Amino acid sequence: MSASLRIGIIGGGGWLGGAIAGSILDSGLVVPQNLSLSYRREQPRRFPDSFWTTDSQELADRSDVILLSVRPDDWHPLEVDASGKLVISVMAGIRLAALAARHKTNRVVRALPNAAAEVAKSYTPWIGASGITEDDRAIVRAIFETCGSQDEVARESDIDYLTGLSGSGPAFPALLAAAMMRDAVAHGLPADVARRAVNTVMTGAGRLLERRDESPDDVVQTFLDYRGTTAAAIETMRAAGFDASVANGLSAAFTKSVSMGDAS
Ligand SMILES: NC(=O)c1ccc[n+]([C@@H]2O[C@H](COP(=O)([O-])OP(=O)(O)OC[C@H]3O[C@@H](n4cnc5c(N)ncnc54)[C@H](OP(=O)(O)O)[C@@H]3O)[C@@H](O)[C@H]2O)c1
Repeated sequence: MSASLRIGIIGGGGWLGGAIAGSILDSGLVVPQNLSLSYRREQPRRFPDSFWTTDSQELADRSDVILLSVRPDDWHPLEVDASGKLVISVMAGIRLAALAARHKTNRVVRALPNAAAEVAKSYTPWIGASGITEDDRAIVRAIFETCGSQDEVARESDIDYLTGLSGSGPAFPALLAAAMMRDAVAHGLPADVARRAVNTVMTGAGRLLERRDESPDDVVQTFLDYRGTTAAAIETMRAAGFDASVANGLSAAFTKSVSMGDAS
């Protein structure tokens, strides 16, 4: 891939746009001078050697690849002509056809990273329109590999589903951690001890899953087969509707993602 690749991130001052900018710079995929970032209100202090602008059309004109990282509501009034260029959206809900029509290019991609891009541990599924080339695919893979891992998926509806599962994903272990933390404090543990215990469980479990590379079901089964305190907890949580609660939550996220696309 060309070291002179010019990338522009619309919304580069935001949470996800900034995380992606940090990852592609840290990895050397793009040199700071070839990275453009647009912002709306206040210019962030990050990435001082890159080009900052409030004019997203100017950003598009000086870039080969344009990454859209504004909130869907802010995309609606955004008029940027990217004729013939590769446009990659990380916005939830906005469909390939709407992106192609708005930005005047068939080289459009929908990708869905998550908040762990901040620590280069995002999982990013993506899909391109029929107009993307093999070189475009290589660029998309390279960008999202710098943020963690990525997969090209077969159907656009997979992106809508994964918007909830992996796009929102880091929120769910955090939700479990918050519930465990509340329970620990209710049992009289000092908050700092409870927090260290819970956070270490979360990071340790993540490392274990990564290292063992087993199906999560197999990991759970190992604990169930042990027939100890963990099995008692898992069985009680399941009897109280744990799995159904997760499925209902993911279904709500899927419905929301599709409805965001309907509005565009
Ligand atoms: N955060 C996640 O975990 C996550 C995961 C998956 C997908 N996404 C998607 O990523 C997109 C960005 O999310 P985010 O969490 O990074 O939101 P965010 O922190 O609010 O960032 C969005 C940025 O866009 C800027 N902006 C808005 N209109 C603009 C314009 N016309 N020109 C230039 N900049 C403009 C905003 O600037 P101001 O601050 O000045 O308003 C803000 O800095 C969303 O579409 C979301 O669906 C996010």
